[in-house]
Formats: sequence, structure tokens, C-alpha cells
Amino acid sequence: MTTTETDSTEKMDLRAALIERIGGYMTSHSIGVAAELGLADLLGDGVRGSEELATESGTHEPSLRRLLRTLTAVGITVEPEPGRFALTEVGSQLRSDSPDSLRAFSRMFCHPVVLRAWLGLEHSIHTGERAFDHVYGKDFYSYLAEDGRTSELFNEAMSEESRVAAERLAAGYDFSGFEKVVDLGGGDGTLLAAVLPDRPQLRGVVFDSPSGVAEAPATLERAGIADRCEARAGDFFRDIPADGDLYVIKSVFQDWGDEESRALLRSCRARIPDTATLLIVGSVLPETASTDEPIMFFTDLNMLVNSGGRERTEREFRAMLEETGFTVRSVRLGAAGPLSVIEAVPGAPR
Ligand SMILES: C[S@@+](CC[C@H](N)C(=O)[O-])C[C@H]1O[C@@H](n2cnc3c(N)ncnc32)[C@H](O)[C@@H]1O
Repeated sequence: MTTTETDSTEKMDLRAALIERIGGYMTSHSIGVAAELGLADLLGDGVRGSEELATESGTHEPSLRRLLRTLTAVGITVEPEPGRFALTEVGSQLRSDSPDSLRAFSRMFCHPVVLRAWLGLEHSIHTGERAFDHVYGKDFYSYLAEDGRTSELFNEAMSEESRVAAERLAAGYDFSGFEKVVDLGGGDGTLLAAVLPDRPQLRGVVFDSPSGVAEAPATLERAGIADRCEARAGDFFRDIPADGDLYVIKSVFQDWGDEESRALLRSCRARIPDTATLLIVGSVLPETASTDEPIMFFTDLNMLVNSGGRERTEREFRAMLEETGFTVRSVRLGAAGPLSVIEAVPGAPR
């Protein structure tokens, strides 16, 4: 190749790299529509033609075929022969019957409710305000409290997202010295359903808002732990249960700005026993951004758009905990992979 040809190939690669990223919203929207239509359930383990898929999903065949070819281009499906499609391993996670299903997660985060809020990103960048409130005139959790179907989808999406981290926490953390775990903002109870079944000495409380905790009784029942675990509704800024000895807060601080996060920690400090342990489970951002873990940075921006919160670095978590009367005992990065685990105790260093 001549120097001019090499330069021109590099230029094409650079252009393609940017154009592919620009098309990111088309990728996510295509995945969201596939999840909404249940295409992965229709494909199952087989290879199926776009005509039968269109009939079963009640869609327009030529357009569905174009959607499936786009999904093939981004690795969700393959097209082994023209017009016939099968799932890849990545795409199989869109099946409802997969133990690792991310179908509800895809439906939620590609949902028009969330996509519309993202249209307000520029507003957030100019003002620092939540785009969600700017677009809908109310905050995300007030919206969910008034929209039962989206709230149910959100709780299911959180449960799907949480399952792996909950299993890793259950396998990697030493729960042996504790009697009662309180999962603050515990949603549908997925975390306790991973931790309690193999630990008969342990009791639990899933604590969340009335809409957040609505699906928890069914989860606890399915996990066979309903007799030693309760779902309690309340506001964690005001009435945190005082009867636990281990308090877990998973994927909650990211929802809140610094002031509210400190208020939540003060609420914990005031209510939890002095001998209790606090476990914060969530993403911990590196000090400098890189391409290593893009999801953390997407989540951070998603929080700016939807909840007004943010992801934080280890330094920021430590400062916040120390300011509100806790001592950090350990920070284990990636211990509930991909999430990290911060263990803190009330009071000055013991
Ligand atoms: C991002 S979700 C995380 C749910 C769960 N911990 C998980 O990791 O899947 C945040 C949770 O905080 C709950 N929440 C928000 N505001 C709350 C409040 N004031 N009191 C109690 N829970 C609240 C929400 O209902 C939601 O279930």
C-alpha cells in the first residue's frame, strides 16, 4: 500500500469509529424494540425465518427483517442464510427464560420514558439539573410512584441487574457474625434472596418505598425465606429500621446528589445501632476516566439525566462517610463484580 492509501485507510477507520459511536442510540433503541417484541423468546434456541417471526410478533415482515439484520450487525443475532436468524450468546440474554435475563433491563433503559429524559441531556449539562424533571415536571421516583406499570418494570430491571452482584456478594462476604440484615432501598428483595437461603441463622428486612418494595413479598416467598424475612415500606431519609446489625445499601447512593447522600448517611448514623456494620455496594469510579469500564461512566451520566445523583470515587465515598460519623473499615474494588463493597462502622476508628 502506498503512504497515501495507508493514510486514507486510517482516515476511513477513524471516521467509522466515530460514526459507529454516533449510532449508539440506534443500537440501543433497536435492542429495546427487540426486547419489547419478545423476539429473543420467539427465536429461542432455533434458526427462524423473518416471515414466521413477523407473523408471531404481529409486525411488518420487511421492516422486521431490517431490524434483525441491524441486530446481526451489532452481534445480537446471526443470519446464517438470507432472511433466517438465530440468537448469539449475547443476544440470548434477551430471552425471558434465561437465568441471566436482561430483557426487563433492556425494556426499561430503552423505554420511551427514559429515552425522552435523555433528550434533555443538554439541559443537564448547561444547568446541572435533572433532565428527567425538566422533561416530566416531576422527579423519577415520584413518576414511578404514579405509574404502576413502569414501576414494576423498573423493579424487575433492577432485579435483573442486581442478580449477579448479589450472588457474588453472597459468595464473597462473611455474613457469619450477623443476625439481621437490613437491605435499605432493597427493591424487590433480590439481594436477600441470594444471601439468606444458605444461612438459616440470618433474618432480613427489605426496606424501600411503598412502590419500590411492592414486588418483594413475592421474591421472598419464591426464595423460601418469607418466614424469616419481611418487606417493610418507609422513607430511608426518616425512618430507617433500628433492629438490624448489618445494613446493606446497594446501588442507592448513585441516585442522589452529595447533600442528599450525606442526609441518608446521617439518617443511618442516627438510627442504626452503634455496633452495626454498614455495607455500601456500588460502582466506585477510578480517579481518571478511560475506555476500560465505559458502563460506569454511562451510569454516571444516566444519573445526571434521571435522578440527579452521581457515581463516586473511593476518595469521595471515604470523605462522605467520615464527615457523617462513620469509619471506613475496607474498600474492596470489584468484590461484588462488577460492583465494589465498602464496609464502614459508626463512630470514630475502633
Ligand atoms: C437504583 S434502585 C436499587 C434497588 C436495589 N438496591 C438494587 O440494587 O437492585 C434504588 C432504590 O431506592 C429506593 N428508594 C428511593 N427513594 C427511597 C426512599 N426515600 N426510601 C426508601 N427507598 C427509596 C427505590 O425505590 C429503589 O428501589
